[in-house]
Amino acid sequence: MEKLVIEGSRPLVGAINISGAKNAALPLIAATLLAPGTHVLTNVPDLRDTRTILSLLSELGAVWQRDGSTLTIDCTDISYAEVSYDLVKTMRASVLVLGPLIARLGMAKVSMPGGCAIGERPINFHIQGFERFGVRCKLEHGYVAAEQDGKMHGGSVHLDIPSVTATENLMMAAVLADGTTVIKNAAREPEIGNLIDMLRNMGADIEGRDTAEITINGVSRLHAAQTEIIADRIEAGTYLMAVAAAGGRTTLTDCEPRHLPALLEKLNEAGVGITTGERSITVEMDPGRRPDLRCVDIKTMVYPGYPTDLQAQFMALMSLGNGNCVIKETIFENRFMHVAELRRLGARIQTEGNSAVVTGSGPQGLSGARVMATDLRASSSLVIAGLAASGRTEISRIYHLERGYENLVDKLTGLGARVWKEDE
Ligand code: EPU
Repeated sequence: MEKLVIEGSRPLVGAINISGAKNAALPLIAATLLAPGTHVLTNVPDLRDTRTILSLLSELGAVWQRDGSTLTIDCTDISYAEVSYDLVKTMRASVLVLGPLIARLGMAKVSMPGGCAIGERPINFHIQGFERFGVRCKLEHGYVAAEQDGKMHGGSVHLDIPSVTATENLMMAAVLADGTTVIKNAAREPEIGNLIDMLRNMGADIEGRDTAEITINGVSRLHAAQTEIIADRIEAGTYLMAVAAAGGRTTLTDCEPRHLPALLEKLNEAGVGITTGERSITVEMDPGRRPDLRCVDIKTMVYPGYPTDLQAQFMALMSLGNGNCVIKETIFENRFMHVAELRRLGARIQTEGNSAVVTGSGPQGLSGARVMATDLRASSSLVIAGLAASGRTEISRIYHLERGYENLVDKLTGLGARVWKEDE
């Protein structure tokens, strides 16, 4: 196993490009299962998670090829509809193939994901939605076995919580169902809009985008098409906070500032210099001025609120600020695993239930330590803290980071960071 070593307290200066979004790539790759022919996806990040979903597609009979960030996926011969525990346990987003497989083959058997490091994360909304479409779902031996009872029909689904992957799974099932489906209280994350664009490119009839209600008029068949993956707003947000924490001046290119409304507002409030262009963001923080960094409160919310996937990183930044703030996590019940690790670097954080009170370390800053990555975004908060801390930080279990950050070491090194991988 490898660990990441950081020698911190160096300003980050220069420019980096932002990769395609992991959480858009995963559903879009799954959606290729809906139609025979050769699909083309561009701007696809090369990550552990995208590799996992591609090996899953290979098991189902798809043939794919990668050329740089372009993927061609031929889904003509899909005949196998079972996804094993071994794949789902490494990436719960594997459940995204349920909707497309039910729509294309009339059946699917996918291992039930268990709880994970950030919460229980059930998939009851997915299953209840499929049942609304006339699909029988049985839970047996740890698997969800879904089978169409006659031809799948559309239906009205109201999600109790605007779940991202439930919205995606139900849309992908409904595009080939008989009749009309209305998804109410649908998620509005930009990744959902990207999937709607792809499904429309494939011939789907969908009304609504960035709306809480999505209407889908089922069509009898879809065709292969080409779609570009949107920029990764979470990767962009992570680098913005890394520069704000370590100090420096960096421009992020190929990103979408309009997908980060809540974070950009909070960074402004905290005193971080932010300038946005059409597809770029420049972040500036004089390392000598970090004592001016103000602690500000956040509460995670569904889009366009503050994203839960940027909560841990904001906590790392705030632990370097001045004053106190409250960070409230409302999406997942157990997303504070990074707190104990950040404390090892000297962060002063107290948690109570789903709130964390952070007391900024002010001019004293943080100091390097050995820490452990517990999940993807927790790991990136440790990278941010390590880049800002004095001395050496060693982060073990970095396979978590490799799930979601493309070329992290090269990107940071290009900005002047001292960071490298070593065998444990
Ligand atoms: N929920 C249920 N039942 C369901 C589905 C969700 O109770 O059937 C609950 C969840 O337990 C959670 C809330 O609803 O409390 C919202 O979860 P959601 O379903 O929206 O999350 P997700 O679709 O499983 C995606 C991202 C996550 C991101 C969340 C929230 C992908 C592949 N994953 O997960 O990304 O945190 O939305 O924005 O899109 C990450 O990239 O690190 C990551 C965890």
